[in-house]
Amino acid sequence: MQKIAMLGSGFIARFYAESIQGYRSRDKIVSIYSRRDESARKFATDYQVEHISTDMEQAIAHPEVTMVCIALPNNLHEAAVLLCCKHKKAVITTKPLGRNAEEAKRMLLAVEEAGIFNGYLEDLVYTPKFIKAYESVKQGALGRILWAKSRETHPGPHSEWFWNLEEAGGGCILDLGCHCVEITRTYIGKNIRPVEVMCWADTQVKPIEAEDHAIGLVKYENGAIAQFEVSWTFRGGLDLRDEVMGTEGTIWINNFMRTGFEMFTTGKGADYVAEKAESNSGWLFPVGDELNELGYNHMFMDMFNAIEKGTAPKESFYDGYVVNAILDAAYKSAKTKLWEPVQLDIWRGETGVTKASNLVEYDADHYLIKEEMTHFGTKKLILKNKHSGKIEERVI
Ligand SMILES: NC(=O)c1ccc[n+]([C@@H]2O[C@H](COP(=O)([O-])OP(=O)(O)OC[C@H]3O[C@@H](n4cnc5c(N)ncnc54)[C@H](O)[C@@H]3O)[C@@H](O)[C@H]2O)c1
Repeated sequence: MQKIAMLGSGFIARFYAESIQGYRSRDKIVSIYSRRDESARKFATDYQVEHISTDMEQAIAHPEVTMVCIALPNNLHEAAVLLCCKHKKAVITTKPLGRNAEEAKRMLLAVEEAGIFNGYLEDLVYTPKFIKAYESVKQGALGRILWAKSRETHPGPHSEWFWNLEEAGGGCILDLGCHCVEITRTYIGKNIRPVEVMCWADTQVKPIEAEDHAIGLVKYENGAIAQFEVSWTFRGGLDLRDEVMGTEGTIWINNFMRTGFEMFTTGKGADYVAEKAESNSGWLFPVGDELNELGYNHMFMDMFNAIEKGTAPKESFYDGYVVNAILDAAYKSAKTKLWEPVQLDIWRGETGVTKASNLVEYDADHYLIKEEMTHFGTKKLILKNKHSGKIEERVI
């Protein structure tokens, strides 16, 4: 059983609290830190938390606490992590790990030096659909992964600090791109090195310094390409979609707006529909169990199981650091308009991976390009002659 100190009592802290103890779980939040006593008390009442503090260190150091969950704005993650190191408390932190790779690297090195358990709360690689899709990818159902795309767009975040470049550390690239990068990186293989990034970013709608819309490409050492599409200017709700393409197959996932649940209402008795839904009348796309659909349940289960078994969780600070390094390159590319290398001072995956061959053996003299059954009943083969290079067609 984990006894958790929750740092922050806002949007994500409440999602986390619902997931951690909303299902008669044995893990409990025993300590809450919030800047304002009033918010800490409200959270404590809602989630039956015993210890309340407006002092972060006190909340972390409480002797009952076995694990600290960081649910604070991005600029406060590092200070909170360092306090966990000081008090040797296991730490799990929300995304993004840092505002940039330098910050993330310092956090990674600090937790490793302190020898404390560390988990990176990237919920979107724990959604039921992702878990099932990833199993298929691992078993080879899609063959060699060539392209993975992830999109997260919505009408913009819910608190003022997200819109402040200094506090948030970036705009939608950092806020939403961190999810997309980790989703696509996992499909391609977390042991494959991301090498360079090309990114377009702009501030199209909001009166802010940061970008509110971006599209990026991340090239991996094995030749696979990842794509992210992120926006704070999208209208119509929270659009979370992923696509993976391999030599043997494809997966398309719609995580949130097309879950198979469609509803019409005139608006009578209207209530909350789903995160960032912009309307509660007309045709709606409710989400059955948001905590589960967004991966929070499986994520905390992995974190708690891992610490109790003495293993690393699926997502650790190291993963958060790699994600930050990729996003740093995206920011650089958006400025230079060039492919920018991913600067990874710490790399623990494979090295020297080369692109797989694109030559499929057909017979001693030919490579296979493709075969197709036509609508007029003949099967055609397109072959390439190994010696002459000539492309040939055969009907069989
Ligand atoms: N799906 C996800 O994983 C997900 C979703 C939303 C937010 N987040 C992350 O969670 C973190 C918090 O975001 P949120 O949406 O809960 O924001 P929020 O504004 O709803 O809540 C932030 C909390 O931090 C407190 N806070 C704000 N400024 C502070 C300060 N200067 N000192 C101390 N406390 C302060 C607020 O009072 C509040 O309790 C961010 O890192 C964000 O990226 C993750």
